[in-house]
Amino acid sequence: MLKKIGLIGGGFIGGVLAQEIAQRGLAREVGMTDPAPMPNPSDPPERQEVVKKQSVSIGKALDIAEGLPTIRHDIKLVGSKDYSALAESELVINTAGVPRKARPDGTFPSREELLAINLKVTLEVAKGIKQYCPDAMIISIANPLDAIVFTLDKRLAPPKNKLFGMAGVLDSGRYCYFVAEAAKVSVENVNAIVLGGHGDDMVPVRSSCQIAGIPVTKFLDADTLAKIEARTRKAGGEVVGLLGFGSAFVSPAWAALEMAEAVIFDKRKIIPVCAKLDGEYGVKGLFVGVPCIVGRNGIEKIIELDLTDEEKAAFTKSVAGVGKTCKEAEEMLKTM
Ligand code: APR
Repeated sequence: MLKKIGLIGGGFIGGVLAQEIAQRGLAREVGMTDPAPMPNPSDPPERQEVVKKQSVSIGKALDIAEGLPTIRHDIKLVGSKDYSALAESELVINTAGVPRKARPDGTFPSREELLAINLKVTLEVAKGIKQYCPDAMIISIANPLDAIVFTLDKRLAPPKNKLFGMAGVLDSGRYCYFVAEAAKVSVENVNAIVLGGHGDDMVPVRSSCQIAGIPVTKFLDADTLAKIEARTRKAGGEVVGLLGFGSAFVSPAWAALEMAEAVIFDKRKIIPVCAKLDGEYGVKGLFVGVPCIVGRNGIEKIIELDLTDEEKAAFTKSVAGVGKTCKEAEEMLKTM
């Protein structure tokens, strides 16, 4: 159990995180910061006064706290509209920013299209962490994932084991779920890793996919697997299109908590996380999804897989996409 976990963003994912941390008893205290709702300057002053008194993070913290006697867990929950709720957090999970949302015509933006708006938010996030919990370990979820983690790194320069992004656990979970469904076996039997960036070029690694330790190709033919891998790459968008109001929020929260629990319980669990590469996989200075041993110190070790030529080519393409978005981020940051 940690002394304190800080949650940046108290929206859909932030809310599930707070609830699960309380339910699982992962920390003695949870601090959740979110400026919402923000008064609209064009509203009448009396309306603005009403909105100033509202707070999603204080409201959600109180709602969960009032349920604690029922689940018999002693945890302190604190919400705030500013970053003070983060004070002295040992671990922070960042979900601040806008998610993808279906447009009226049913189309939706790519994660990369969120870049400009979420970069501005990320600058505030970095400032908040620096001021209130500069030594905290950071798990970031906001999109576009790889570029947001890259920006946090540029602004905070933490030790490289202490900052990582959540994508691979979720993407691998999606891959495993589709495989389990097609093979008609328990999800508990399926293991797989998705590498690369958290975009439509991510790389589901077929050679790592096993059902009860047996290669997946024993159960599913190449055509079925290709369809599953294509669906995995676009699985986030599939949920965005179905929900209409935003993007997936339960599975990303659970995925981030798998990473958090690996740290909190020093599990040394091998999971794919978005980690800063320093020559591994031939990449330097970018944050990319790769399997890592995750334990008390965060990223304890990056594991290099032996990829097939096809997987290597797909990984290179995915990393090129990450590099392009990070370059765009760097350009935009010059004007912010
Ligand atoms: N500091 C803290 N929180 C902020 C800030 C900020 N500067 N700016 C915005 N937020 C808050 C919003 O007020 C909102 O409540 O971040 C919250 C985001 O919550 P949701 O809109 O419900 O989005 P969610 O589904 O939780 O996704 C959050 O994770 O998966 C990614 O693409 C997704 O980038 C998105 C993020």
